[in-house]
Parts: sequence; structure tokens; C-alpha cells
Amino acid sequence: MKKNIENREDVRQLVHSFYAKIRKDAEIGYFFNDVIQDWDEHLEKLTDFWEMNLFGGKNYHGNPIAVHNEVDHKFGGVISSHEFGIWLNHWFATIDELFEGENADTLKRRARKMSTMLFMNMFNSRR
Ligand code: HEM
Repeated sequence: MKKNIENREDVRQLVHSFYAKIRKDAEIGYFFNDVIQDWDEHLEKLTDFWEMNLFGGKNYHGNPIAVHNEVDHKFGGVISSHEFGIWLNHWFATIDELFEGENADTLKRRARKMSTMLFMNMFNSRR
């Protein structure tokens, strides 16, 4: 039986498994492998981000909108809803493989909302 997402350790497991899939993805893996130099640091930051999202806390201090606009500019504005869809598929699949319950559903919903928001900002930041 699968478990609920209960604490930081669970979030860390989710984040690690998710990025293992992302890095191997033929269509979107290179965005990440190209930009991210220190994977330990990235995985810790994303654990902070999703932990804060679910349980509160103050460890994450970034600006995801600015970061994604920058990534999009770096690659010449090629990131579309297709790439966001692939990202979300991996996120949902990883959650479903490892967890179930209310927090699992919440993290699916929040990522979907965030993807719309990030993509709209990305799109509007193109000139
Ligand atoms: C679908 C929803 C997505 C969510 C919720 C999400 C979330 C995040 C977050 C929270 C960060 C950390 C930001 C920071 O450094 O403070 C991040 C970094 C990053 N994201 Fe996303 N992301 C999404 C989609 C994507 C997509 C579609 C791409 C590329 C195709 C992408 C590429 C990246 C890259 C390359 C970084 C690292 C940037 C850096 O370290 O400079 N993301 N993402």
C-alpha cells in the first residue's frame, strides 16, 4: 500500500525520483542538464520549495517566475505548453508511483496551477 506525503523526507524522495525521470527525458531533459550545474543543491532547493508549499516553512527564497523567464530566454523562447505538459506528466506519474492521499492530490493540483502561471509569465516576457 502506498503512503501519504507526511514530511520533508517524503518530499525529498518525490523530488529525487521526479528529477531522475526529468533528466532522462528525451524532449525536456537537456533544458535541465544544460542549466543546472550543482544537482545536489538543486534537489535540496526543490525539496525546500515543495516542503514549503505543503507544510509551510521558510527555507525557500527563490523567484520561480524570474528563473523560468530566464531559462526560456536562454533557449530562445522555445518552451511551450508541450514542454510543460511533459513536466506535469512526470510529476503526476512520480507521485502516483510513490504516494497517495490528500497531500499527493494537493501537489498535483498546485503544480498544474503553477505551470499555467509560469507559462503565462514566460509568454508575456517574450518580446
Ligand atoms: C510545470 C511546472 C513547473 C514547476 C512547478 C517548476 C518549478 C521550478 C522551481 C520551483 C524551480 C526552482 C527555481 C529557483 O531556482 O528558485 C525550477 C527551476 C528550473 N526549472 Fe522549472 N518548473 C516547471 C516547469 C519547467 C519546465 C517546463 C522547464 C523547462 C522546459 C523548467 C526548467 C527549469 C530549469 C532549467 C530550472 C533551473 C534553473 C536554474 O537553476 O537556474 N521548469 N522549476
